[in-house]
Amino acid sequence: SPVLRGRSDTARSAKNTVARSVKKTRPIFDGDEEDLMKRIGILTSGGDAPGMNACIRAATRMANNAGIELVGIKRGFTGLIADDMMPISRDDVSNIIHTGGSILESSRSMEFETEEGRAKAAANLLKRGIEGLILIGGDGTFHGGTLLARQTSIPIVGVPGTIDNDIFGTDYTIGFDTAVNCAIEAIDRIRDTARTFERVFFVEVMGNHTGFIALHAGMAGGADSLVIPEDPLAIEDICERLEEGRRLGKKSAIVVVAEAEKPGYSYKIAEEVDKRTQFESRVCVLGHVQRGGNPTSADRILGTELGAGAVQALMDDVNGRMVGIVGGNLIYTPMSDTWEKKKELNARIKQHMRMLW
Ligand code: F6P
Repeated sequence: SPVLRGRSDTARSAKNTVARSVKKTRPIFDGDEEDLMKRIGILTSGGDAPGMNACIRAATRMANNAGIELVGIKRGFTGLIADDMMPISRDDVSNIIHTGGSILESSRSMEFETEEGRAKAAANLLKRGIEGLILIGGDGTFHGGTLLARQTSIPIVGVPGTIDNDIFGTDYTIGFDTAVNCAIEAIDRIRDTARTFERVFFVEVMGNHTGFIALHAGMAGGADSLVIPEDPLAIEDICERLEEGRRLGKKSAIVVVAEAEKPGYSYKIAEEVDKRTQFESRVCVLGHVQRGGNPTSADRILGTELGAGAVQALMDDVNGRMVGIVGGNLIYTPMSDTWEKKKELNARIKQHMRMLW
């Protein structure tokens, strides 16, 4: 257009982006309506995470701005099988960016793990004329969605939404920052009574089978030691570490424990420490407190970026990929990598946790 002629490359690329998004969404001139995406489905699955609503809000606005209807699927794959869906309007996503949980609710569907369950889900997607599907969840969600895609050939895009941060292909998952901040608020509170009573407190955090929450909360909370699945510590090591701290003059201590297999592992550790050291110990299992609350700015921004990015990906004919942000850049990762490849803990933070206590 004359307005852009002679402008910088940036303006030209902006024009191309606009042209592409307009072309994809509204029939113009050359009648290519048949390839315009008109309806996208979106669901949240697995453990809910603060920031999911920011993600849904951004996806809704991005889709609507491009002339695409967004259909909300309730209760994850359970609602998909039950055909429990409804269009999401701008009003539905007003005043939710600051809220935890998911307005679409969530579930862990056993039925969806069966061929029959996925066949019902596929039939509902086709019946509703859904031409693309956004899955907000963890690697289990993406694995199930990939099996579904094979039965429908409907393009799917994943958005990493879990407090665990255990998904390959993104530096952070939606909800992780809020969960870490929740944990350090608890650790700061526990520190007062630990110091007053000269006790050792074992603060147990979530994380499924990983120690991402424990490592980040441990460093930010100034923990004296960490117990994480990636670096299993024997009880003797924990006791030795606490005795060394006592020799350095520490009269109380905070040990952050990743839940690992299941909640309550910390009670076993505390019992052994009581037997083997002079310390008196107590346990605080944070549990599902870490799953709720208003998302931090980081999770609101991450949710917004990934929600908009997922809609853009579908508009750009991306399929079978998860959107993520690595090093500040929005990238696409093949879905299978999210459950086949292991995300490593930050080695530098681990090293500093060992050194700077
Ligand atoms: O995946 C998120 C998570 O909170 C894990 O950290 C935790 O182990 C699990 O979900 C708990 O699952 P549920 O909410 O079904 O008890």
